[in-house]
Amino acid sequence: MRLLHVASEIYPLVKTGGLADVVGSLPAALVKRGLDTRLLLPGLPGILDGMVGLKPVIRIGPAFGAAVVTLSIGRLPDSGLSAYVIDAPFLYRRGGNPYVGPDGNDWSDNHRRFALLGWIAAHIASGELDPDWRPDVVHAHDWHAGLVPVYMAQDPSLRTPTVFTIHNLAFRGIFPMDHHTDLGLPARRLTPHGIEFHGKISFMKAGLVFSTRITTVSPTYAREICTPEFGCGLEGVLRDRGTALSGILNGVDYDVWNPRDPAIAKPYSADDIEGKRACRAALQAELGLAKQDDAPLFAVVSRLTSQKGMDLLLAALPDLLKEGAQLAVLGSGDGDLEAGFRYAASVNPERVAVHIGYDEEMSHRFMAGADVLLVPSRFEPCGLTQLYALRYGTLPLVRRVGGLADTVVDATPDNIQSDRATGFVFDDASRYAMGARLRDACALYQHGETWARIQRRGMAQDFSWDDSAAHYENLYRSL
Ligand code: ADP
Ligand code: GLC
Repeated sequence: MRLLHVASEIYPLVKTGGLADVVGSLPAALVKRGLDTRLLLPGLPGILDGMVGLKPVIRIGPAFGAAVVTLSIGRLPDSGLSAYVIDAPFLYRRGGNPYVGPDGNDWSDNHRRFALLGWIAAHIASGELDPDWRPDVVHAHDWHAGLVPVYMAQDPSLRTPTVFTIHNLAFRGIFPMDHHTDLGLPARRLTPHGIEFHGKISFMKAGLVFSTRITTVSPTYAREICTPEFGCGLEGVLRDRGTALSGILNGVDYDVWNPRDPAIAKPYSADDIEGKRACRAALQAELGLAKQDDAPLFAVVSRLTSQKGMDLLLAALPDLLKEGAQLAVLGSGDGDLEAGFRYAASVNPERVAVHIGYDEEMSHRFMAGADVLLVPSRFEPCGLTQLYALRYGTLPLVRRVGGLADTVVDATPDNIQSDRATGFVFDDASRYAMGARLRDACALYQHGETWARIQRRGMAQDFSWDDSAAHYENLYRSL
């Protein structure tokens, strides 16, 4: 079976979040199962620079505002997987973030940049661009690849099924209706039954309406997005698709995320967890925190946004500090939240440390050095950091939503007793609910034996890709 995965970012070449981690590891897991899997990626600078042995497949004339578009193929550096890359210098060879310009606003031609991605995918599917390889299933990720199934639907003789995966419904890829002239789609696609969304165009909606199957990255999020609370206005569209929608939990690449990784101060394992103390001391020293170990060190590795519940954490911070605990934050995002954490660090220099920015290596040191990883999200399609934390013996403290609800077992007395607990879970998106669970975590930390049992239970969890890739394979075969 031949599969084409279409996405806008991929670890380790270009990454703004968990999407890149998934695109970097799911296709490799599928190849391991014997599926002939290729990727299609935009020619962003990080991707063009990082690919090995890129060579042109076909040169296409002007398209979507770009004077020259070349489709090339090469290999990804670590996995050796084959990937097609669209080299369209005018659209993609830009520094910085794949979606946002230096002024912090979305690139003004994003509709064209990501329409080209969808359009090329459709033409690879039809066999027009590479006569030597044609996919049996096309799998498109998030709104950036939302137009894939629409362009494919333009060719009625093309029966190739499509899977569209929602990684985050909050980013709906919305553009003014008058941009449709740049997309080359007929008027009948621009209706409420097509890609129209409240008088505008939504690439996300396009993916939802035109794909053969829709998946999202956890079973709980699949249910949540059919309700007004989590559906971002698309809950009706999702409910209409009925059984075409399902949830498949993301996996983790344990080759990258494990407590023997080269980025951390001292390797350790579930049987010999001593090294974690050294990782903790090294992190405290690196961040200028007091070297204490009588109360837990809480950590955040996250976009600093309201999705991630970072305002709840700021509000609940006094509860954490009252218990004598410490907080280390690695992240960037909303200016107000960044400023809030900076201020907290400036008035509690020994107890709160903040590193504003994006730092892959440092994120490993946070995972290894912390006692508790905080993920108090308002909504969370899957969430990967709580899964990474589990493997490092760092207890996740999460809100009961989406993939967080599916992956963390709360340390209630019953769950501790039956040795099922792996972390802490709270319900209400309020500072009180979060504060209460922060205090519980501090109290439990004083019971070393129990804490160690929960750590061992968490470290033994298996969220590797094997299971999830098997679910995707079943889905592809059913098509
Ligand atoms: P999302 O994709 O919604 O941001 P996920 O939990 O799925 O959330 O994935 C986030 C990914 O980005 C993880 O790999 C996490 O380690 C990484 N990450 C987030 N913020 C930072 C940061 N400031 N520095 C390094 N890595 C980060
Ligand atoms: C999105 C979601 C996150 C998920 C990631 C990978 O960025 O916000 O919850 O883990 O995609 O699927």
